[in-house]
Amino acid sequence: MVAPTTRETGPVVVEKVHTGKVVGISIIAALGGFLFGYDSSVINGANKAVFYQFQIENTSLQGFVVAIALLGSAVGAFFGGRLADKIGRKKVMVIAAILFLIAGLGQAFPFATWDFMLWRVVGGFAIGLAAVISPMYISEVAPAHLRGRLSSLFQLAIVVGIFSTQLVNQIIIGMVPDGVQEPVKNPAVPPVEANNVLALGLQAWQWMFLCMVVPAVIYWLLSLTIPESPRYLVAEGKSAEAKVVLSKIYVEDVDTKVAAIEESLKGDHKPSMKDIKGPKFGLLPLVWVGIILAIFQQFVGINAVFYYSNLIWSAVGFDESRAFTTSTIISAVNVIFTFVAIAFIDRVGRKLLLLIGSAGMFVTLAILAVTFVTAEKCTQQLIDAGTNSSCNAVSQLNNPMLSDSSGWIAVVALCTYVAFFAATWGPIVWVLLGEMFPNKIRAAALSIGVMANWIANFVVSESFPTLVSISLGLAYGIFTVCALLSFFYVLKFVKETKGVELEDMESLEDVKV
Ligand code: BGC
Repeated sequence: MVAPTTRETGPVVVEKVHTGKVVGISIIAALGGFLFGYDSSVINGANKAVFYQFQIENTSLQGFVVAIALLGSAVGAFFGGRLADKIGRKKVMVIAAILFLIAGLGQAFPFATWDFMLWRVVGGFAIGLAAVISPMYISEVAPAHLRGRLSSLFQLAIVVGIFSTQLVNQIIIGMVPDGVQEPVKNPAVPPVEANNVLALGLQAWQWMFLCMVVPAVIYWLLSLTIPESPRYLVAEGKSAEAKVVLSKIYVEDVDTKVAAIEESLKGDHKPSMKDIKGPKFGLLPLVWVGIILAIFQQFVGINAVFYYSNLIWSAVGFDESRAFTTSTIISAVNVIFTFVAIAFIDRVGRKLLLLIGSAGMFVTLAILAVTFVTAEKCTQQLIDAGTNSSCNAVSQLNNPMLSDSSGWIAVVALCTYVAFFAATWGPIVWVLLGEMFPNKIRAAALSIGVMANWIANFVVSESFPTLVSISLGLAYGIFTVCALLSFFYVLKFVKETKGVELEDMESLEDVKV
């Protein structure tokens, strides 16, 4: 093995690179994150209209129509790694873009509930592919000293995607005539403004999905222009081509790099799923670290917190009609604090940031849990009296009713929690999954980690409503415990990868792969 550029404890070596080029191709690869964010949250503005359109009355089916995309993502992630090793990183990106396009069109023009669900699975599958391929590709083209920042662009794209969906949905709703035009067919699934016709005979909700076609086509076309990953090319025995790609990124020293990649990939076979098998419950210990980090990223409750934020806001006097303002504030915090990660990740390192994030989320979640546990709960009598805005519907039964002051404490805690997530666990888990595995097992291990992330997301989203019906305080209490556990887990098991060449990741581990 050639001498590593840097060591875990040593100073990060800053190499001469063509910065514009590598930033450009990383941004293109990160576009998958934009579609990930867009496709996963566009449903929030469209769900009620779709339920009306197909008269989906059963609440379990409603939940499943929304959540099925997450399962699609888990499956997409599982196949993403294999595909990336078989046909190359670039082709997987192109496939993901085409699937996003198909999913956008399919969800905009469904015939029935079943095919709407099918298109949601297709979109989910594309998200799973994007979540594997973007972090993998960026870490494989990025110079070590910039890798954290460039890989964080993926998370930035996700949160900008979520933010854009809200904006697009809001603009579309603002453009349709006020009031609900469609007749009520069944009071259990009434029409909403998103069922009003916007243009060309299409309803507002259809336009929400249709808008996804634009970024999908841009992602498709741009992904055709980027070079293949040099690490994949070497694995395919195409070292000469890898040199050409690397010389577009690095100003010098391309031969040594190719030699180091060749050395790291030495073996009797090409990288495959079998390589991640190991002694601990069937997998290599390092693969478990990736899986557990990916699970913790969901078990600290980020998506559930987003989902239930309206309750907190309504306590401080923001009613349903201001839901847009509230979710926009949270999304804006999410976007702004991602820049904090970008600013610090290659200086402070991944591990310290994760620890700060766990500690910050622990404190803010604990404040939320205590606030909910100690608040007076909404009862049937209070609903009948109709004197409290956060207690006037059956769905609010058992909800904590926050006073003005506790409401504001909860708002500040919620925004601070999102800020901590956005500056640490949001981007860093994707960065680590993309870079922590040695070349030989990267695709397979990353696939399994991302799949675990989506399964965990599904588990949290599916169980959260039940937990909330028992106690919102309990739900937040569980997230608080997870944040605490994540702190100790990172402290013990995560190795710092800041500035370490991908070819030297193996030397950080006790186990050879
Ligand atoms: C997570 C998503 C989450 C998003 C929100 C991502 O890193 O994986 O589940 O919705 O961050 O910021």
